[in-house]
Amino acid sequence: MEQRPIIAFDFASKKEIEKFLTYFPIDEKLFIKIGMELFYQEGPAIVNFLRRQGHDIFLDLKLHDIPNTVQKAMRGIAKMGVKITNVHAAGGVEMMQAAKKGLLEGTLEGQPVPELIAVTQLTSTSEEQMHEDQLISVSLQESVLHYAKTAEKAGLAGVVCSAQEVENIHQATNDSFICLTPGIRPQGAGVGDQKRVMTPAKAREIGSNYIVVGRPITQAQAPYQSYLQIKKEWNGEV
Ligand code: C5P
Repeated sequence: MEQRPIIAFDFASKKEIEKFLTYFPIDEKLFIKIGMELFYQEGPAIVNFLRRQGHDIFLDLKLHDIPNTVQKAMRGIAKMGVKITNVHAAGGVEMMQAAKKGLLEGTLEGQPVPELIAVTQLTSTSEEQMHEDQLISVSLQESVLHYAKTAEKAGLAGVVCSAQEVENIHQATNDSFICLTPGIRPQGAGVGDQKRVMTPAKAREIGSNYIVVGRPITQAQAPYQSYLQIKKEWNGEV
């Protein structure tokens, strides 16, 4: 089946989303990433609004708190019927297990349980910052791999990671472990503030399971055409 790139809806309000969606045919069902900027402006209503139109949601809220709190928060997230959500692996195995439990408990009958993935080291963190701020003395790469393994141990479905890390993570984890990768740019597109980017075709080749694409679609002159082009590249059709 054809796979959809996940579109990062980094918009400030519902109004902007409504305008953006007018570029797409009404029957084009999208996979949308809602991050904390939008969620904390508009709340669960924005998830419901998009779900009612048939879109799938990756709710990117990166939870990180004590296990009990995360478990209860995840019950609420599961009730929203999202497809994917996430936590920080730095919260530990127990917290990740609690998150997973919360999702199971909150999922409404007959609905699929959301897939839970973990953030390892944020890509905004340099190795130097990690050494200084977190007092982690191994390399950034080792830390990322370690977090991926702890996510696997906790029974999570996978991790968010840069495309450059996918091959190592796949090697270190089981076959069904998912790598979801942002920082994707179609051939010839501007990179914006992303430092290390990869094309959709290359991301597929090296084993990304999902790609997240924001500005190359949301800021495009013709968003729908741009989306279709990226989808084609991602599915190896060009
Ligand atoms: O516009 P662009 O394609 O760069 O957007 C990528 C999306 O993925 C943004 O929402 C950004 O916050 C998110 N992201 C990222 N790199 C990470 C984690 C998340 O670019 N390591």
